[in-house]
Amino acid sequence: MAEHDYALSRRAAEFYEATMVPALFTAWATRAVAAAGVGPGDRVLDVACGTGVVARAAAARGGTVVGVDVNEAMLAVARRVRPDLRWEVGDATRLPFGDDSFDAVVSQAALMFFGDRVAALREMGRVAGRVVVVQVPGRLAASAGYLALADVLARHAGGAARDLLGAYFAVGEPALLRDLFERAGLRIARFESWLGATRSPDLDTFLAAELLPFADSVGPDVRARMVADCRAELAPFVDATGGVAAPIEVHLVTAAV
Ligand SMILES: C[S@@+](CC[C@H](N)C(=O)[O-])C[C@H]1O[C@@H](n2cnc3c(N)ncnc32)[C@H](O)[C@@H]1O
Repeated sequence: MAEHDYALSRRAAEFYEATMVPALFTAWATRAVAAAGVGPGDRVLDVACGTGVVARAAAARGGTVVGVDVNEAMLAVARRVRPDLRWEVGDATRLPFGDDSFDAVVSQAALMFFGDRVAALREMGRVAGRVVVVQVPGRLAASAGYLALADVLARHAGGAARDLLGAYFAVGEPALLRDLFERAGLRIARFESWLGATRSPDLDTFLAAELLPFADSVGPDVRARMVADCRAELAPFVDATGGVAAPIEVHLVTAAV
């Protein structure tokens, strides 16, 4: 789901919760809160919480949770799903919380979108008392399913469409990510790279979430050709039941505060 798209509407935020969260981010969230060592009574901040998948995973481990995001539409969905948790509007680069307000600060699938990434990491370190965990997509070149999508987008919808997808992988180079933490004054305790998969029950569902939002300006003929190309290029990631599992590299970075 393209950032420019779901930033616009409640409908798009609901689509994100219904498609992207089960396809991809629920599995990430389980890892993120485990890396943060969230346990009963921990105060946990989910930075750029979106529809709240990390906050919910932290609450399931007994944490006392706050989710913060700039996007009101995403927060409205978070609130609909879990009205019992605390959701706040706020910018990651100016977190509206005091020093050491939380034990653990977790941010997932968001650092690449922040205007000032170093400032955001510094803010996470300021409000965290024990640990900061950041999880982001890794390298596009190491994420086979997405590399295929990027090629199809470039071929049919142009470089700008490809770049919208590429923006998700903008901090995927390990050296770049390490450098951002260092410049923010955060000491990395563990840097784990793992190969995840975006899972969908069928290719149409997968393309509706992962391809079409990046190509919303193309006409129906081009769209049909793009989908046909994807059917061929993504065939290696489709199983006998028609289910899709597109590999994506993920970096999980844990910094002790
Ligand atoms: C791909 S979503 C990830 C949402 C959620 N963390 C998840 O794992 O599903 C990226 C989120 O970052 C939020 N975001 C982007 N820039 C932000 C900023 N400067 N401060 C706070 N949130 C921001 C967006 O509104 C969006 O909800």
